[in-house]
Amino acid sequence: MRKIIRNVLVACLAAIVAGFVFVTSGVYDIAATTPHWALTTWVLENIRTRSIRVHAAGIEVPVNLRDPAEITMGTEHFATHCAVCHGAPGVPRDDIADGLYPRPPDLAQTATVYTSAQIFWILKHGIKMTGMPNWSDHGDDELWATVAFVEQLPGMTAHRYAGLVSESAKLAGRHGHGGPGLPASTDVSDHRSTGSETNANDKDMKGMNMEKEPVAQPVQ
Ligand code: HEC
Repeated sequence: MRKIIRNVLVACLAAIVAGFVFVTSGVYDIAATTPHWALTTWVLENIRTRSIRVHAAGIEVPVNLRDPAEITMGTEHFATHCAVCHGAPGVPRDDIADGLYPRPPDLAQTATVYTSAQIFWILKHGIKMTGMPNWSDHGDDELWATVAFVEQLPGMTAHRYAGLVSESAKLAGRHGHGGPGLPASTDVSDHRSTGSETNANDKDMKGMNMEKEPVAQPVQ
């Protein structure tokens, strides 16, 4: 019996040492150009979906997500913050999204997979070790409105999206800034998101200098 315990302890110790050597050796390929093994993808995807399900449990939906006013407010938020990575009907994702690993998914699919509460949780908290930011510095009302918009995405045409963007532009730019997610045909002359600003915002995105504070700010 004592011999078995000793062997188990030696095996555990060997595994810990091997793990330490693996982590510190640098042999693991961290490159975003090298896809995960199928097993790693399976583990990560299951951790993600289980975690979202557990953490979003108990979140109540406080508004009517089919209310046109919610959808319009959510459109503005989405066009400004999300379309750059996820695209929108008639709006391709920006180049930056193509370089991300994992790639930002098509949210028209996502909307059918997660509940409203789960989408809200994802927006509020983001997803670790991916390009999905958290938007916890935005009010819950804005986030619920964005959920309302995301849930409209399945089957949404480019024409309807352009109409919603025009409608949301009349909110007089609650954010006070433009975004790259606007269809070219949209009349947004009373909003700051004009064509040339779209390009300027594109550049901002490359440095991830969006509305949020840059991560590495010099200490004042
Ligand atoms: C900088 C790029 C980027 C931006 C901006 C961004 N996302 Fe994401 N998002 C991602 C990536 C990458 C993933 C994939 C994460 C993963 O695979 O676990 C993701 C995942 C998601 C998911 C979960 C999708 C799924 O099928 O599991 C939702 C929902 C989502 N994003 C919504 C949004 C919304 C709404 C916004 C705007 C408020 C937004 N994202 C802004 C990159 C981004």
